[in-house]
Amino acid sequence: MIAVDGPSGAGKGLVTRMLAERLGWHRLDSGALYRVLALAAQDAGIELQDGVAVAALAPQLAIEFAGRQESDERILVNGQDWTARVRAETAGDLASRIAALPEVRAALLQRQRDFRRPPGLVADGRDMGTVVFPDARLKIFLDASAEARARRRKLQLSEQGVDANLIDLCVEVRARDARDRSRAVAPLAVAADAVVLDTTQMKPAEVLAAIEALLRQRGLLD
Ligand code: C5P
Repeated sequence: MIAVDGPSGAGKGLVTRMLAERLGWHRLDSGALYRVLALAAQDAGIELQDGVAVAALAPQLAIEFAGRQESDERILVNGQDWTARVRAETAGDLASRIAALPEVRAALLQRQRDFRRPPGLVADGRDMGTVVFPDARLKIFLDASAEARARRRKLQLSEQGVDANLIDLCVEVRARDARDRSRAVAPLAVAADAVVLDTTQMKPAEVLAAIEALLRQRGLLD
């Protein structure tokens, strides 16, 4: 079990994909579960502050992930393709609102743990190492400056044909982080036994190499 936590845009998605591919392990994108639940609650006309009602929706959602790369990723919800709406910026914002509710976190806890299967799982999120998988063999906290994270997001959006303003993105990134770090339940925090990697000046391949070195140190990779 490898836990990778950190703020939005720190590169967790790409790095956990590369790592899962390299090791031949499974991957959990826990943020996508929060995004799907937030969108489903919005569709159902549920108030996003109503933790009990939002949490009650979770068991009704069959969520399937397909594709190993970002380009061929597919997220199916009750058989429908929700990939584009789950990846939209607004879904991340809605997700961070419901993610502060204790009932919602409790409703998704076991569901995330169920992704753990042989030969191993690389989990991407905010509380993977602190709450969901506290016994992970390796915990990484990926960080980067807000400016670098906003720039990466802009690039990612432009690859999807979306033109976004860098300053707006920077403001959104900071607002989402502040909400994730300040919530009472499972806030974004560095686990006591996590290794912090600041990726501001690093390329994805360098981040992967640094994680591989940590895995070798622990005897998890030849
Ligand atoms: O990682 P992603 O941007 O998809 O996550 C969307 C939001 O879901 C985050 O801003 C955070 O509020 C919430 N989240 C969380 N715990 C996780 C994963 C995501 O609270 N493990």
